[in-house]
Amino acid sequence: MTSVLILNGPNLNLLGQRQPQVYGRTTLDEVAGMCRTAAERLGVDIVFEQSNHEGTMIDLIHATRGRHQGLILNAGAYTHTSIALMDAISSSEVPTIELHLSNVHAREDFRHRSYIAKVALGVICGFGPRGYVLALEAMAAHLLEDRS
Ligand code: DQA
Repeated sequence: MTSVLILNGPNLNLLGQRQPQVYGRTTLDEVAGMCRTAAERLGVDIVFEQSNHEGTMIDLIHATRGRHQGLILNAGAYTHTSIALMDAISSSEVPTIELHLSNVHAREDFRHRSYIAKVALGVICGFGPRGYVLALEAMAAHLLEDRS
């Protein structure tokens, strides 16, 4: 079955407690549950991961080769700084959707730059936890429907 890695970066383990006025009160476990329900409906397998470490995230992106057909990436603050994550996506050639809970373009200037967007199929931001479901729908459409 088509498999998608949903990878969350630094500080996202604190979702639900961290700046709830920006990121809401839904926890990462609850987001994972929403993704599992959506994945079942869409007919894709998912693996849901979180790491606070750039190197671990790079290893997980490399390991998509031969294992996952798509990557949904909320790289947190590494989005705005990490050429290494961008290179990992390019090297793995895995179709990637960049995702953010908040609308990064309505926030501080330093959040307007994204290294991930340069190598992504597309970007979803500003829809809170629902963005994960939207990203899965977009990825499933790309991998399953757009093939014909
Ligand atoms: C975030 C936005 C980033 O700018 C921030 O550093 C995060 C979370 C989001 O999901 O809105 O950690 O990726």
